[in-house]
Amino acid sequence: MVTEIAASSTGQVYTTSNGRPVTYATASQRVGPNGPILLQDFHLIDLIAHFDRERIPERVVHAKGAGAYGEFEVTHNITDITSADIFSKIGKKTKVAVRFSTVGGEKGSADSARDPRGFAIKFYTEEGNWDMVGNNTPVFFIRDGVKFPTFIHTQKRNPQTNLKDPSAFWDFLSSNQESIHEVMHLFSDRGTPLSYRHMDTYSGHTFKFTKQDGSFKYVKLHFKTNQGNKTLTNDEAAHLASSSPDWHTKDLFSAIERGDYPSWTLYVQVLDPADAEKFRWNIFDVTKIWPHADVPLRSVGKLILNQNPSNYFAEIEQMAVSPAHLVPGIEPSADPMLQARLFSYSDSQRHRLGVNYQQIPINAPLHVYSPFQRDGPFAVHSNYGSDPNYPSPLRPLTYKPVDEHPAHEYWIGSAVNALQPVTDGDFVQATRLWEVLGRTEGQQENFVYNVSSHLFAAKDEVRKRTYKMFARVDKNLGVRIEEASEKAAKATEVETGDRVLDELTARLA
Ligand code: HEM
Repeated sequence: MVTEIAASSTGQVYTTSNGRPVTYATASQRVGPNGPILLQDFHLIDLIAHFDRERIPERVVHAKGAGAYGEFEVTHNITDITSADIFSKIGKKTKVAVRFSTVGGEKGSADSARDPRGFAIKFYTEEGNWDMVGNNTPVFFIRDGVKFPTFIHTQKRNPQTNLKDPSAFWDFLSSNQESIHEVMHLFSDRGTPLSYRHMDTYSGHTFKFTKQDGSFKYVKLHFKTNQGNKTLTNDEAAHLASSSPDWHTKDLFSAIERGDYPSWTLYVQVLDPADAEKFRWNIFDVTKIWPHADVPLRSVGKLILNQNPSNYFAEIEQMAVSPAHLVPGIEPSADPMLQARLFSYSDSQRHRLGVNYQQIPINAPLHVYSPFQRDGPFAVHSNYGSDPNYPSPLRPLTYKPVDEHPAHEYWIGSAVNALQPVTDGDFVQATRLWEVLGRTEGQQENFVYNVSSHLFAAKDEVRKRTYKMFARVDKNLGVRIEEASEKAAKATEVETGDRVLDELTARLA
């Protein structure tokens, strides 16, 4: 009989999940050499039963991602606008975990897809975890969270064919034209960044920085890459999708492994509440930026990533970030999209990871004491032992006073209840971006090509509506996209121009 040595090179004895040493790791217990296996073989059942349950639900959006650890260091004093402990003094360092992602694809999808990139940062501060859950674009497609589930449906797979659906994609965007500013970002080469290291991240939404004296400011956060912004062309991105689908993931891991640590500089745009009321743009509308000429960037600090995870599933897949994870000194604004997000993330994580998701080591705050939250699946923390599980005068808790400040009630009261119709004002920043693209050679041409090589596959009616949308950005842009898309649509009735694809299609006939 062959005897297996049940020990790894590190000298650890291999066991079942209950710790019983195992001698034969690669053979089941059988009744004789050709007999059936035995139910008493706990090693076999333990192994298979665990394997059968290995998959957890993937994130409903942002399923494909990569992550790393690092630290954030304050380089400039901003204690005049926030009392957040993380910003309390120059030189203060805070450990962070970061997760990058694409949005629409499944967990195994290609990194180079045309899509916004998620860039979420978990700051482990002394006063709780602060999550900055941003994207690499400063704006978003919609400005009311009620549209998010239906918007995402149109970017994912068709319910009947299970294929990506260009008609649904453009149908939604062209019938919800507040999307135009983000569409301009997405279909420029910025929609296909060269790597996660070569892109920025933005809060997008307006947040509040608060102080203990009751005052507050409205802020938007910008983390600018110190590696320089670099992008892929449409054709390069398409090539990578088949030749190196995990391109971004590989690049991030390799760069950190070789000690080439990527970094970003944090800036804030700061708006006084009184100025916010008079501001040209609604500060609760996430489809709009605050032009830098009106609200300059103020330096805050530096983020650096310098450590790879040692286990992807434990540390990155199980990471649970939420815009609702805030700390004293940082508060949400009345932005209706942000308000919807405050609910959505933790709700999704209770489904994805279970109600005790905050106890998973990657999510656990530095200091936590909330003994009224008890039990539930996987209460792996001490579960607060014999401490009272209700507020009790027998054993009073200590409560720390945190910032209190007057809300901005009368103004936000009218802003958030109204449905914001699309107006010509929604196209002003999109037109500005079109002009900015014109300053770099080839960028406007790439934009037309990027749109038309996607839009041509949409239904006739949807294509026509979308041309009109782009004409509102710039008359000539509408004409150029129409010409290029119609040409591509006609060409595909005959052949795609991709020799291999055309030959394979012919073989199907
Ligand atoms: C109302 C609008 C939105 C809703 C309802 C929503 C909802 C969600 C949900 C449910 C997840 C998965 C969370 C998880 O399972 O861990 C997610 C992930 C994410 N969302 Fe949103 N989202 C919205 C808008 C946005 C916007 C505007 C941004 C960027 C400014 C954004 C950035 C992200 C990022 C970066 C992730 C991935 C986080 C990670 O790496 O785990 N989302 N979103």
